[in-house]
Amino acid sequence: MIISAVNRFPIPAVLLTMTLFLTACNEHKSPTSEVSSEKEQNLIHSYAVPSEAKVKHLNWNAKVDFEQKIIGGVAEYLIETASDANRLTLDVKNLTIEHVFVDGEETKEWWLGPKDKFLGQALEIGISPETKNVAVHYETTEGAEALQWLKPEQTADNTDPFLFTQSQAILARTWIPCQDSPGIRYTYNAQVNVPKGLMALMSASNSIEIDSSGVYEFKMEQPIPSYLMALAVGNLEFRSIGENTGVYAEPSVVEAAAYEFEDMQKMLESAERLYGEYKWGRYDVLVLPPSFPFGGMENPRLTFATPTILAGDKSLTALVAHELAHSWSGNLVTNSTWDDFWLNEGFTVYFERRIMESVYGKSYADMLKVLGQQDLEHTLEKLSDAPEDTHLKLSLEGRDPDDGMTDIAYEKGNAFLLMLEENMGRDVFDAYLNQYFSENAFKTMTTEQFLENLKMDLFDGDEEQYIALKIDEWVYGEGIPDNAVVVSSPLFGEVEKEMNNWLEGKEAERMKTEDWTTHHWLHFLRSLPDSLGQQQMHELDAAFSFTTTGNSEIACEWFLRAIENDYAPADDEVEAFLIKVGRRKFLMPIYQALIEADDSKQRARNIYQKAKANYHSVSTNSIDALLK
Ligand code: BES
Ligand code: ZN
Repeated sequence: MIISAVNRFPIPAVLLTMTLFLTACNEHKSPTSEVSSEKEQNLIHSYAVPSEAKVKHLNWNAKVDFEQKIIGGVAEYLIETASDANRLTLDVKNLTIEHVFVDGEETKEWWLGPKDKFLGQALEIGISPETKNVAVHYETTEGAEALQWLKPEQTADNTDPFLFTQSQAILARTWIPCQDSPGIRYTYNAQVNVPKGLMALMSASNSIEIDSSGVYEFKMEQPIPSYLMALAVGNLEFRSIGENTGVYAEPSVVEAAAYEFEDMQKMLESAERLYGEYKWGRYDVLVLPPSFPFGGMENPRLTFATPTILAGDKSLTALVAHELAHSWSGNLVTNSTWDDFWLNEGFTVYFERRIMESVYGKSYADMLKVLGQQDLEHTLEKLSDAPEDTHLKLSLEGRDPDDGMTDIAYEKGNAFLLMLEENMGRDVFDAYLNQYFSENAFKTMTTEQFLENLKMDLFDGDEEQYIALKIDEWVYGEGIPDNAVVVSSPLFGEVEKEMNNWLEGKEAERMKTEDWTTHHWLHFLRSLPDSLGQQQMHELDAAFSFTTTGNSEIACEWFLRAIENDYAPADDEVEAFLIKVGRRKFLMPIYQALIEADDSKQRARNIYQKAKANYHSVSTNSIDALLK
């Protein structure tokens, strides 16, 4: 294994001879069990060789230059080495490496491997088994896919520039050299220099006020994987919500955000009652400008969130419960590779809905479950020609891990856990999950380790139960096994009834919708017949003002119906939405609908032309593929 890894690219002859010699000599002495378990673990999307040298701590000292759009600085690693270690391997992508120091001495013994489209390059640094400390001086480039540099006019307040990072899945390596595998954890300290007047925040301990010096210090004392490295810089304010919860946002947004997330402390306390102590100290949310490509990102201590969940009525805060739940499923017990992504997301969706149930009641959580089930059915249809991508356990080797980030991990994963809950009983299942989180805290988990744990701890070693519940079929098979729990929502029954009344001639204005929440409306809009007449679209819009709604989820669902039904009065709003919002979950279906409505793709292309500058690379990559 070591030989093949070394031979991936040319290495100076002296070192190569030495390496081969060492390898040959130590073939049997090397910690083979460690090496082979590392190999079994198969890092898949990282060049790191942690069995040889592993990063345990990072000191990051950086300067953020908005003029040049560059982050430059020094990443210093404290490492743990094997007795035969001769190199430290880091992942880098599109970085300029300037100098490398080993235990304080500059070294020329470092090499960049060949470039891979997804993985970037290996940065190999010659070390000895005694090496304690390696420092890399570097700068980011235009190719830093994790970063989005925003002009003032792309922010809410229009006054200052803004920068944020998005590292998951394998983009941390585009702004910090790192061992970029979710299976490798380290602690970090950082000192970040930003233009005066701006605030810098990280996935770590944070200030609550702008520091006039522009210099910020951070500490993350719990070991985290690299995909949870995060930085944001902008004109930000903080509002406290509860004892250890709060929100950061631009000044014009912060009050609305504090109102929207008022129940955050309650969510945190519910989560702790469900699955044990919160291990990260504070839980804050940062509301980003609308180009943020995701709904939320569970950066430890500081969730990054889209402003599109600020609906004004707290109706879209399941997203906060979701990111909070990741503080257990994902950040505490972490998927070992991106093939095991469902362990992060499926558990988190299940946990999110348990939090929502405990704060807002069962009928609320049931609506979320049914909407999730609809998403799953839709995804299964879309994946009908790639059935292997409907397995919970994926095989993403050689592919962009982004390919695996579908609703399968989220909703099939959740359906699997709902099946376990129903068959074992909620109390038993909760006790099991509590134990799972506490025993595996700050560790990584493969799908196979989880299944073994399930067999031993939930089924008490009972093989028959494992077979009866079709566990392998759920994890390694296609689609949804026939023992899935049927989810239903009585509240949605009422929505269907009113919709049928309307379809049979009752005026839209007279429908009984006074008590409907965002989720009722989403079900209504999703359940409409495939094709509606102009008169019907006008009538709905006149009665419920869908085209001008301030609720992003309702807007997205309505825009899809508008595009499918050629409803021109929504055209301007569709375009304005696509230009303002960069959240991929909304962009993809809307662009897809535009393409389906017009074979030439011209309308989609025209809008994309105007909107593209506002999107993060995660979103442009997906839309480029769609428009190809
Ligand atoms: N960790 C994910 C976001 C993510 C996944 C980023 C894969 C990069 C690669 C986050 O927790 C998430 O799931 N966000 C969802 C929110 C939702 C399901 C409530 C999103 O952004 O839509
Ligand atoms: Zn998630």
